[in-house]
Amino acid sequence: MNDRLKKETEYANRVLEDHAVLMVSGSQKTVIDAMNYSILAGGKRLRPIFMKAAYDLYEGENPCLDTFMAAIEMIHTYSLVHDDLPAMDNDLYRRGKKTTHAVYGEDMAILTGDALLNRAYEIALSAVNSCREVNDKINAVKALSVLSEKAGIYGMVGGQVFDVEAEKKGIELNGEDIDFIFRLKTAALIEAPLMMGAILSGAPGEDVKTLEMTGRKVGLAFQIRDDILDVTGDEKELGKPVFSDKKNNKRTYVDIYGLEKSEKDCEALSREAVKLLGSLGRDTGFLEELVLSLIDRRK
Ligand code: IPE
Ligand code: IPE
Ligand code: MG
Ligand code: MG
Ligand code: MG
Repeated sequence: MNDRLKKETEYANRVLEDHAVLMVSGSQKTVIDAMNYSILAGGKRLRPIFMKAAYDLYEGENPCLDTFMAAIEMIHTYSLVHDDLPAMDNDLYRRGKKTTHAVYGEDMAILTGDALLNRAYEIALSAVNSCREVNDKINAVKALSVLSEKAGIYGMVGGQVFDVEAEKKGIELNGEDIDFIFRLKTAALIEAPLMMGAILSGAPGEDVKTLEMTGRKVGLAFQIRDDILDVTGDEKELGKPVFSDKKNNKRTYVDIYGLEKSEKDCEALSREAVKLLGSLGRDTGFLEELVLSLIDRRK
């Protein structure tokens, strides 16, 4: 498992070097430098890894895979750059480095997020345009339509809106609210790569649906663990500040349910996800191990 994860992480990093990193030149060079900085700062690369792992379950050969892996990591990275802004979580440390706004200023960090988001669709659409096979092209468009929905107001952005608004207005979130927020702000961008990888590879529709449900469970577990790490994590290991939620008076999963139940729920959701993966009747070993390894992740 560790060897395979290492290999897949290296592959995702290479794909980012090839598709996401730009030459720093021209009068936009500050923002390009900031884009490269935020992308190359590191990170677990889970979303592209999930996309390729879902793709590998089927026998497709879609030329858009690598570009789409880069695109989703660019969108995820933009969400982090904006999430860290003073107007949002106001954090100064991310992926083991200073946050983008701490290095380049708030104005450039806003523009860096905008630029990463737009550039992600720019490279993705150009990959679609170069598809020779009509079926590959159709699947690529379907995958992009999943991405745009899961990243937007019915996905990540929508979840961030509810999250920030609840925090700023001091709304007392209940369990149902927090599930809704987690499903949108975090799970949507884990559902997306699993679905997109499968769609690109020509998987049947019902499998794509199963992978969406899998991603939902993995995403909920992932955000529960994120909330746990905000109080139990080690800043150096985590690469981002601990007690950020506390600082912002954010009501977290741990506040609602306590540490013990949070840990239990994280594990239970992950095991449900593994069951769903097993139901696909494919070689899901790597994905299953990856999901289980996230239960007690330290970063
Ligand atoms: C952080 O995501 C934001 C959440 C959804 C909790 P990751 O924990 O995947 O961050 P990186 O990409 O590894 O930095
Ligand atoms: C944000 O959740 C998830 C995103 C959509 C960016 P958090 O605000 O808890 O993420 P971290 O802890 O800063 O990574
Ligand atoms: Mg946040
Ligand atoms: Mg945050
Ligand atoms: Mg957090």
